[in-house]
Amino acid sequence: MSANQNLTRRVALGLLAGGTMTGGAFLLGSGRLTRGAAPDHRLQASTLDYALQGDQVTAGMMSFAADGPPPVLRLRRGAETIIDVTNDLGEPTTVHWHGLRIANQQDGVPYLTQWPIMQGETVRYSFAAPDAGTFWYHPHCNTLEQMARGMTGALIVEDDENAGFDRDLVLNLRDFRLGKDGQFIELFRPRQAARGGTFGTVMTANWRVQPTYDLPGGSLVRLRLIATDVTRIYRLSLTGAEARLIALDSHPTPPAYQPQEIVLAAGQRADLAIRVPEVEGETAVLNTTISGRPVALARLRAVGRSAGRRLAELAPLAPNPVAEPVLEKAEIIPFLFGWAPGDRPAPSLCGTLGYTFWSINRQPWPGDFPEAPGALAVLKKGRSYILRLRNETKNSHPIHLHGLTFRLFRSDKRQLPPLLTDTALLQANETLDIALVADNPGDWAFHCHVIEHQKTGLAGYIRVE
Ligand code: C2O
Ligand code: CU
Ligand code: CU
Repeated sequence: MSANQNLTRRVALGLLAGGTMTGGAFLLGSGRLTRGAAPDHRLQASTLDYALQGDQVTAGMMSFAADGPPPVLRLRRGAETIIDVTNDLGEPTTVHWHGLRIANQQDGVPYLTQWPIMQGETVRYSFAAPDAGTFWYHPHCNTLEQMARGMTGALIVEDDENAGFDRDLVLNLRDFRLGKDGQFIELFRPRQAARGGTFGTVMTANWRVQPTYDLPGGSLVRLRLIATDVTRIYRLSLTGAEARLIALDSHPTPPAYQPQEIVLAAGQRADLAIRVPEVEGETAVLNTTISGRPVALARLRAVGRSAGRRLAELAPLAPNPVAEPVLEKAEIIPFLFGWAPGDRPAPSLCGTLGYTFWSINRQPWPGDFPEAPGALAVLKKGRSYILRLRNETKNSHPIHLHGLTFRLFRSDKRQLPPLLTDTALLQANETLDIALVADNPGDWAFHCHVIEHQKTGLAGYIRVE
């Protein structure tokens, strides 16, 4: 029996016995049982062949739907939502709801919060999202492969208030690593994984190359941009239309904060208020800058008679109920993000890339196993903390914390905007202080969102108790 089969058996036994492997019991009903209420949403983790570029069919894609891109999930803030996930991938998976401050057992991290969802199983997630905004969802098991093949979807939490937009348009931005024949090539290169990460070759928005969206001329659109790529740091700008940044990483931004370009690292989101050009046929272009040059990602084209709206008609977004840390009382906890070439990781049910390059506090994450290493830090519930993130590498890392929202506080390298987020782009050799209130108990994954970095060591978790 191989190690993998052995683990499968242990997981299966654990399931039957309702047993625990990490010491924390997974709640009954947090996953396994789907009887009771009908779900609000169903996701079907699937493999599929799909025409990504024109009519060229790419084989071996993965999605949360059997026949196309992952659906955009729309939830209402504060409303209990049930999502049933059926696994038809042929390999284990889990689903993580990136940015949602929900109960730990719904967080979708293998072994830390739930058992992997095995082929053929249906698992029920249910939660109420406390914050409105733009979020996303993705697997946390065999993460590089499943995400690189397509499993990244938008999750929108709607407010009760009508913010005054005529339209709401989501752009799921990501690359695919395809060869000239439109088929997947190696999903990563070790040489790149040990540096900035491996880039895709085909840039897409909503699984389309430079799509054009027709929108009523002169109307107000809420454009939700989600960087779901496994590596890329986008430098976004919009030309040809009036636009204002209104939120970053789900949280409303100060009106005066209008950067020249919006930098979105892997995992981050931006919401823009846009006034579509007035004249029919006029087009606005969303660009990302690569080596100093703009590359078009998507176009918005005005159609029909002008709706004659004005950006000034929009009321500011209501803030989310995120607790403000009390900085004078905050304990400072240092974390070191570093280089740590190490042993080849052991095979895991949730995949391994076969290399160790990175570490947090000199400890490379060994992979996803029933026996997790200890927490990087233990925070007391309700207290304020400053997490001091020191990057001793010459690469930048989008550092993501599950389950909690933090404020950018200070950097030894740059002026920081006053932003709330769950993912901070830690720059090369930077020390960045972030502040938070540890108000959500549980074991929260803490990792780089360049998935190759995450899967070659740059991961761990923080316990709030
Ligand atoms: Cu989107 Cu563990 O992350
Ligand atoms: Cu997350
Ligand atoms: Cu990284």
